[in-house]
Amino acid sequence: MSQNRLVTMDEFTIQETRKFPQATGELSSLLRDLGLAGKIINKQVRKAGLADGILGAHGATNVQGEEQMKLDVLANDTLIDILKNSNECAGIASEENDNHVCYEDTFSANSKYVVLFDPLDGSSNIDVNAPIGTIFSIYRRVSDLGKPCTEADFLQAGNRLMAAGYIIYGSSTMMVYATRLGVNGFTLEPSIGEFCLSHPNMKVPEDGKIYSINQGNTIKLDDGMKAYLDYCMESNKEEGRPYGHRYIGSMVADLHRTLIKGGIFMYPADKSNAKGKLRLQYECNPMSFIVEAAGGKGHTGYSNVLDVQPTELHQRVPIFIGSKNMVNKVLEFVGEKQTVA
Ligand code: AHG
Ligand code: MN
Ligand code: MN
Repeated sequence: MSQNRLVTMDEFTIQETRKFPQATGELSSLLRDLGLAGKIINKQVRKAGLADGILGAHGATNVQGEEQMKLDVLANDTLIDILKNSNECAGIASEENDNHVCYEDTFSANSKYVVLFDPLDGSSNIDVNAPIGTIFSIYRRVSDLGKPCTEADFLQAGNRLMAAGYIIYGSSTMMVYATRLGVNGFTLEPSIGEFCLSHPNMKVPEDGKIYSINQGNTIKLDDGMKAYLDYCMESNKEEGRPYGHRYIGSMVADLHRTLIKGGIFMYPADKSNAKGKLRLQYECNPMSFIVEAAGGKGHTGYSNVLDVQPTELHQRVPIFIGSKNMVNKVLEFVGEKQTVA
């Protein structure tokens, strides 16, 4: 490829998949469809505040009892519709839907992949113009081709992911995706409407100096976690402590920073959320797959996130994720005390 011009995500993905002679191009095509959904959601996000019907609450709650924002619903509908028209997706599961959705047409029934997504992550940040994102996971289905997909296709452990990624609607819009070959980031070039390679071969630094947690919950944490927070705030010049604290409250934005700068992001179990708050299938698995493919680590306090066998679509797990050495350190404090579903 010529180095004198921008390389689009499609071109990059096609080149990457050509490294595997047996590759059929189906995964590249699915990633392109997800990129298209990202561009359409981006258009809606960028109009928030100007066009009617974008900011604010939708007036309903989702399966997890959380208030849905209008953009949650717009993003969800966009993804469901684009993936339905894709040749490569047999069905989807979404944070915003009670159950998985199987596409019934013949093309979809013969498709190899299923997709899970959090259509808009960090939606409490929509109305205050802070970064939000879309998170997705791609599994090869385990049910028979030619028939509708089944729930088992969506209850696969993270270590069976084929690819995962996110689109972040921040100061610029980026799509980052990981396969077992590594992690690459693409920035949306608005004048040509394409994601272009901007962050090749992303690696999480092994060490970091930032801890990220909703520290307002400290009173609800167990003693191990409280001791770890004290450790982060303690002064130790050689080890670069006290660490800086950053918490946006959009996992996708907090993890994007962690991927680039290193650090640790945590949502542990606490007295209000005995199993943690974040969802295994829509948030923790895809993010752990990305972070591990970039050399970092994602752990529940009990096992690697990617090794948890899901038992229900919307289950939650505690998470400690980011720079490997920082995750190993917090595990010395919390040990196996964290409760996992
Ligand atoms: P979502 O908007 O998809 O429901 O996710 C919100 C999540 C996640 O993005 C973020 O890290 C976390 O909730 C923030 O939770 P707190 O407000 O409890 O800190
Ligand atoms: Mn979310
Ligand atoms: Mn969401």
